[in-house]
Amino acid sequence: MRIEPASATVGAIVTGLDMTRMTDAEWRQLYQAWLDHLVLIVRDQDFTVPQFLGVAERFGRLMPHVVRRTRNAQYPQLTEMGLNTKKADGKVDTSIFARGQGWHTDGPWDWRGTCKATQLYGLEIPSVGGDTWFANMYAAAEALPADLRERLKGVKAEYVYGGHARKGNDLLEPEDRDHTPVAWPVLRVHPETGRTALYINPTHFLRFADMTPEASDALFDELAPHMIKPDWEYHHSWRVHDYVIWDNRCSNHAAAGGYPIEERRIHWRATILE
Ligand SMILES: [Fe+2]
Repeated sequence: MRIEPASATVGAIVTGLDMTRMTDAEWRQLYQAWLDHLVLIVRDQDFTVPQFLGVAERFGRLMPHVVRRTRNAQYPQLTEMGLNTKKADGKVDTSIFARGQGWHTDGPWDWRGTCKATQLYGLEIPSVGGDTWFANMYAAAEALPADLRERLKGVKAEYVYGGHARKGNDLLEPEDRDHTPVAWPVLRVHPETGRTALYINPTHFLRFADMTPEASDALFDELAPHMIKPDWEYHHSWRVHDYVIWDNRCSNHAAAGGYPIEERRIHWRATILE
């Protein structure tokens, strides 16, 4: 097994490993590399669905995605990304086609538990575009201006699926649309590394807790330019049979889009709770 950094600050590319038959030593090395690099790209995997879900279970507890209509019928913990990008009338279904665009972490709104990680497996990759971008949010926390960082101590942000605009809410069943917001510290200490990450999620953000709407909006606007910067990004160009897993507690990601609607971009996805 070879583990090489994917960029200066986030991501590592792993080659020479079959994840379905790891030794305990390889697993320990891989898990530590994941904590260190936040995102792992493991090349050339060949998974059945049970093997893909079995790998996820080594990282944590599997949870079916709240979006029920893209769950696999036989394996509800498996979400199939990129199917049915066109509606019955032939028009683009932007909720599916543009799913995951805009910087975010997965599951800050999840009332069922702490969203630890997300894993994807690339089955069909378009000829152009369709990248996934990642950002190191430890680096974002470290780069905050000192006075802003001081004021963020003790501040919590509240999240609902799709944020205050409820973007993508049409993907949810009606009974899943109005859950109580979930609050997280903006300066969040990672339970395994002990490091502090900037935990902020523009896509699912509702408001900062215990503030007037005006104060919350002003703080969000002040924080916005410090969330994501090119210095701590990695842009992943997918290959077929890439396996990618990221740590939602200390990284943000975004689907870049930019691929032709005629082409297929199919991934398996599993959501992993602590
Ligand atoms: Fe996502």
